[in-house]
Amino acid sequence: MSQQKKLKFGVIIHGVGGNIEGWRHSDIQTDASVSLDYYTKQAKKAEEGKFDLVFIADGLHINEKSIPHFLNRFEPLTILSALAAVTKRIGLVGTLSTSYSEPFNVARQFASLDHISNGRAGWNVVTSPLEKTALNFSKTIEEHPDHAKRYRIADEYLQIAKGLWDSWEDDAFVRDKETGVFFDPDKLHPLNYRGEFFSVQGPLNIGRSKQGRPVIFQAGSSEAGKNLAAKEADAIFTGHPTLKVAQEFYQDVKERAKAYGRNPDELVILPGISPIIGATEEEAERKYHEIANLVSIDKALDYLGRYYEHHDFSQYPLDEPFPDLGDLGKNSFQSHTNRIKRQAKEENLTLRQVALRETTPRSAFLGTPEKVANLVQEWFEGNGADGFIIGSAVPNGLNDFVEYVVPILQERGLFRTEYEAETLRGNLGIPFPENRYSKKVITH
Ligand SMILES: Cc1cc2nc3c(=O)[nH]c(=O)nc-3n(C[C@H](O)[C@H](O)[C@H](O)COP(=O)(O)O)c2cc1C
Repeated sequence: MSQQKKLKFGVIIHGVGGNIEGWRHSDIQTDASVSLDYYTKQAKKAEEGKFDLVFIADGLHINEKSIPHFLNRFEPLTILSALAAVTKRIGLVGTLSTSYSEPFNVARQFASLDHISNGRAGWNVVTSPLEKTALNFSKTIEEHPDHAKRYRIADEYLQIAKGLWDSWEDDAFVRDKETGVFFDPDKLHPLNYRGEFFSVQGPLNIGRSKQGRPVIFQAGSSEAGKNLAAKEADAIFTGHPTLKVAQEFYQDVKERAKAYGRNPDELVILPGISPIIGATEEEAERKYHEIANLVSIDKALDYLGRYYEHHDFSQYPLDEPFPDLGDLGKNSFQSHTNRIKRQAKEENLTLRQVALRETTPRSAFLGTPEKVANLVQEWFEGNGADGFIIGSAVPNGLNDFVEYVVPILQERGLFRTEYEAETLRGNLGIPFPENRYSKKVITH
């Protein structure tokens, strides 16, 4: 009997939260973004709920208008290493930018996390949308690579990382005290990579892990982003307002994966959702308003501005149609900024409406546990998602999901009651990647 396909779940642990004023809610721990205790409790709760992974987002540039979580938060690989020690089965996925780092360091760091966690590491590959990031890396704003170039760099970067992760064949380390043989030199492979942006000799100074190599996530939804994901990624983190949009994205990306000669089932699509759950519809609605009511219009304009390179939206009238921004945003969060412009036009929204809506989006997954479970099932069975990354739009969002929604999905046979595998790759149902050199049949 063939096994029924199961949902996958991740949780984005995001300290005081993604809402610019959410930290003021009475149920929020105000130092959560730098609290090991908070991250540990969240990770353990997600593991109790048999989630596939925890997910840590990141950024490399802030100013005084950034949301509180961005102002004072953990570096992803550091906190994930700490979480590796206090969890057993859950995957550990961290965000790291290919535009402001070196492939050798990054391949080594993720390989280390993969060993520390016994095969549970994942890397969310991002390209750093904000141009002022350059100022933190000994570069000028003009030297910040444009959108297309950032993705070309990312592509090359991933070739190198994957190559470095194959430096040692799986059985290269013999470690025989009797014979004094520590490793088999035939199973050691330098990379000798020379490309447009990088040159890396290798080999990497750490071997392959229990899952072969870290799982690659990608989180950009533009044409270039989708192509990179279809070509190189094992999983995609994305976001969609409706099932219809999610279905179009799902089909589009799976088709692109096929065009690259891949099995589309081996590219897992995980939209981010932030369920708001209440015992009744009214209670869920109240939870949403508790957060939304904390946000002033000035703060909402700050929040919106960040997507457009911290553009100052306070210069426009609030109650007139959303301003014409020309190309602004094209070089930063392109897919996101395009969507905002398009929706504002299609729905004839004012600046005030756009800013408030973007700052506290009303989750489509709002209501009773039963209703949220039904929506999850509808998106999953309707080919809008292979699973979801759960964000917390309201305090205790993860807790509510694990306590009340997960059991319903388990009851319906849609979600696991026990982990199937010990590695992240195994739980996500992605095959073990053979070492490129071991695969070769050598003929003399
Ligand atoms: C769901 C989602 C999550 C993202 N998370 C991050 C993140 O944590 N850090 C970051 O620097 N960029 C993040 N990005 C930005 C992307 O990596 C990318 O730079 C940006 O979306 C522009 O590329 P695009 O036009 O292909 O979407 C995220 C994007 C999406 C869609």
